[in-house]
Amino acid sequence: MNPAPNVILVGPMGAGKTCIGRRLAERFGLEFVDADQAIVDEVGSSIPAIFENVGEAGFRAHEKRVLARLLERGGQLVSTGGGAVLDADNRQRIRQRGFVVWLRVGVAAQLQRLQRDKTRPLLQREDREQVLEAMATLRDPLYREVADLVIDTDPYSPAEATAHLVVRLAAQWQNPELRA
Ligand code: S3P
Repeated sequence: MNPAPNVILVGPMGAGKTCIGRRLAERFGLEFVDADQAIVDEVGSSIPAIFENVGEAGFRAHEKRVLARLLERGGQLVSTGGGAVLDADNRQRIRQRGFVVWLRVGVAAQLQRLQRDKTRPLLQREDREQVLEAMATLRDPLYREVADLVIDTDPYSPAEATAHLVVRLAAQWQNPELRA
């Protein structure tokens, strides 16, 4: 049993981190925290506006600072942005402060789930498929490096994926807040 203070979801855009995260948080009595939303709240502008104003590097700096602050606390289900694992310090913090679940999704399902998305700056281009493939090649080993648990979300609805994860988390993660 892993007694990490938080449950942390990692994985690419379109894996269902927010949707599944909300459900899991409710199920385990954790506070749901969306790291991207925390960045928006702290900076005071949307993700597309942040990318436009300070570029991806500026966004990553906000992401690193906000994630470090969030992970000082416990008792949370933290849903991270797809690129959070790119930074080695983020990966170390994620590992130290959470039981980490990698939500996997194939590129075909990502393309379908994100076809009308306007909120992800890195996908506002014609060659989405190639971009997603390249991201998977670069990032999958990093997700693997931090993950305690992996689930393929492709065949499942968010409710089904949550149900699978509830069973596996209950078996592998010891919620320190429930310890006597
Ligand atoms: C990003 C993923 C997004 C958001 C930003 C960059 C990425 O979060 O952080 O657009 O680099 O994969 P989601 O994974 O929640 O969509």
